[in-house]
Amino acid sequence: MKLKSIIAAIALTTTATVSAAPPDAEIEKRVDELLSKMTLEEKIGQLNQRSGYGYAPEMVGLIKAGMVGSLLNECDPEVVNKLQRDAVENSRLGIPLIFSRDVIHGFKTLFPIPLGQASTWNPALVEQGAAIAADEASSVGIRWTFSPMLDVARDARWGRIAEGSGEDPLLTGIMGAAMIRGYQGKDLSAPNTMAACAKHFAGYGFSESGKDYNTTWIPEPVLRDVVLPPFEEAVKAGAATFMCSFNDINGMPTNADSRLLRDILRGEWKSDAMMVSDWGSIMQLVPQGYAADLRGAAKAALAAGVDMDMESHAYIANLKSLIENGEANMDDLDNAVRNILRLKFRLGLFENPYVDIKSSRRFYLPASLEAATRAVEESAILIKNDNSTLPLKNGVKVLVTGPMADAKHDQAGTWSFDLEKEHCVTPLESLREQLGKKNVTYVPGLAYSRDRRTDGIGEAVKAARDADVILIFVGEEAVLSGEAHCRTDLTLPGAQSELIAALKATGKPVVTVSMAGRPLVLGDDIANSDAFIISYHGGTMTGPGLANVLTGKANPSGHLTTVLPRASAQMPLYYAHVNTGRPAEGMVLIDDLELEAGQTSTGCTSFYIDAGDGPLYPFGYGLSYTTFDYSTPELSTDEMAINGGEMTVKCRVTNTGSREGAEVVQLYTRDLIGSLVRPVRELKGFEKITLKPGETREVTFRLTPADLAFTRADGTRGAEAGDFQLWIAPNSAAGTPVSFKIK
Ligand code: GLC
Repeated sequence: MKLKSIIAAIALTTTATVSAAPPDAEIEKRVDELLSKMTLEEKIGQLNQRSGYGYAPEMVGLIKAGMVGSLLNECDPEVVNKLQRDAVENSRLGIPLIFSRDVIHGFKTLFPIPLGQASTWNPALVEQGAAIAADEASSVGIRWTFSPMLDVARDARWGRIAEGSGEDPLLTGIMGAAMIRGYQGKDLSAPNTMAACAKHFAGYGFSESGKDYNTTWIPEPVLRDVVLPPFEEAVKAGAATFMCSFNDINGMPTNADSRLLRDILRGEWKSDAMMVSDWGSIMQLVPQGYAADLRGAAKAALAAGVDMDMESHAYIANLKSLIENGEANMDDLDNAVRNILRLKFRLGLFENPYVDIKSSRRFYLPASLEAATRAVEESAILIKNDNSTLPLKNGVKVLVTGPMADAKHDQAGTWSFDLEKEHCVTPLESLREQLGKKNVTYVPGLAYSRDRRTDGIGEAVKAARDADVILIFVGEEAVLSGEAHCRTDLTLPGAQSELIAALKATGKPVVTVSMAGRPLVLGDDIANSDAFIISYHGGTMTGPGLANVLTGKANPSGHLTTVLPRASAQMPLYYAHVNTGRPAEGMVLIDDLELEAGQTSTGCTSFYIDAGDGPLYPFGYGLSYTTFDYSTPELSTDEMAINGGEMTVKCRVTNTGSREGAEVVQLYTRDLIGSLVRPVRELKGFEKITLKPGETREVTFRLTPADLAFTRADGTRGAEAGDFQLWIAPNSAAGTPVSFKIK
């Protein structure tokens, strides 16, 4: 083994040091030169981010005085150029503004919400979607998006689970890195790119009780092994910016947390990304009970490492006096300004500050719509398909019903600020086109997802008489998930379950499609359906994507990136849980309890007497119109040295059905004994492969001790010698384990 590769191998087995792209010496020189010319006021002005609303005189005055560093929410390219001209040509130093926006799952061509995109388990497709979003948004002058959201979430009550990639840190990191590559491209100074923003740093997904903006209690091992890894991947992917979060972690608000924002992000991970606050989050240090007033909040946030103040107006109002009174550190201010100027140089804004109006508004290109359709197809998770109800047979007469069948606005999902709903194609429209209008009867049944009126259900039941198959589109209106939209009851809103049950009673085959912003409690609805598909809000091309899946033009290949719960009250619920001392067994459920049953009659193990235990469907689950077979995993060795060891794992996957299909082959491990108790399974890799009927493909994964590292009882991070199990399987509850050791 050549020396270089030995060094590389050793590097792998120690705590892998993370390093961002090396600083560009030329840019650093230009940053320092410009910084040296800036007055105190101009430095503070760069830290000020405001929300733009047109060419407003008050804003123009601030920009000309150098009192604004960035604007968010201005999306008119003509206005962007006018405001930028005031910054570049009418201010003393001509420092350009960065225009930003929440481009979360597309700008005009809307892809599925991130939870849906993650369900494709296809990073390349997610990267393509981000690149399309960057091309569309940058065409109107947006050069910075507040995406990807990397908050691992294990509680579906939390409305923002919609914006992330689900419950697993490895998958979240891979999907986040794909978005960062898509937004930023190979050269961030290219005018059709956007700076990405790894958010919300950190721990926001652990909001207590699934209630937004709530406190979080995160033990250090969970912080290190679950919450932070996706952000570390974002540094490796070169995320140009980070955003700190609204929450506190164990009582320390992240906006004041220098251990998080400096020691970990800058010290351990060597990131030079720019750190922006969340909207008003510096000001929130006051109601959080950390700062007495806005001045104290500004002081704490600058000291902790928040570079830019989004709409707290804390820095612009207080930093001058704090610096002049020696209460804030000029070096901290200079470093914040450096991080902001570096970003502007990297974006090429000094050379190319204006939008090219001639080529602006590059929206809805055919290739973009095709990619968005594919994302809907690949995000569709086939949960159930009894009697091969799907795909629909040619010439079939269908009843289309349900409040989400023709919901142009609501199919777009949350964070669709720039939605043009007239461009959205609904399932009803696409089914009429693909099956022929005469074969499609449409009766909504309910007017919208929260509709509790049941009088329309009878009309749907009557219409079912003439149908061969009933297609029911249910779910959540867009507004029922996303920021500040948390729910305690995760069942289908309104009378949707009643609609499904009534149509099931007709005896006709029922296909239900759930279009929501979160994992729902769907047990009864799935039981009342012959086939069931989960499609998290699909965006612009929801209709074509779902119609292609329902008619069989596309074979569904989506897989769950969260567990599907049995009951709302199970939350938080996740697959990578520890075993407990009394794992559920011999469950006696509430209806089976005898009168005056004895105290120990339910078996004294870990389950709910009214719900049992575990999810209704496991993390990683998803069916196909074909079937797959997995060989027993073969290990290159069943012993790996803790220093420098490695092993490869092979598995042959065969398409045993009659049509081509894609399978998500997943690698899980379990550390049987740890200095801290360890999860029963953890995802360590996956590969999505497409197989023709009868085709077999050998899938190989490589494992090293670094892949099995965790935060140990002594607080250090690394693997421990001992016994392990490993699965290669189609989901987190399937497969036969094979054993190996680390010596
Ligand atoms: C919001 C969100 C954040 C978003 C920002 C700007 O409150 O928390 O994710 O990027 O404000 O809209």
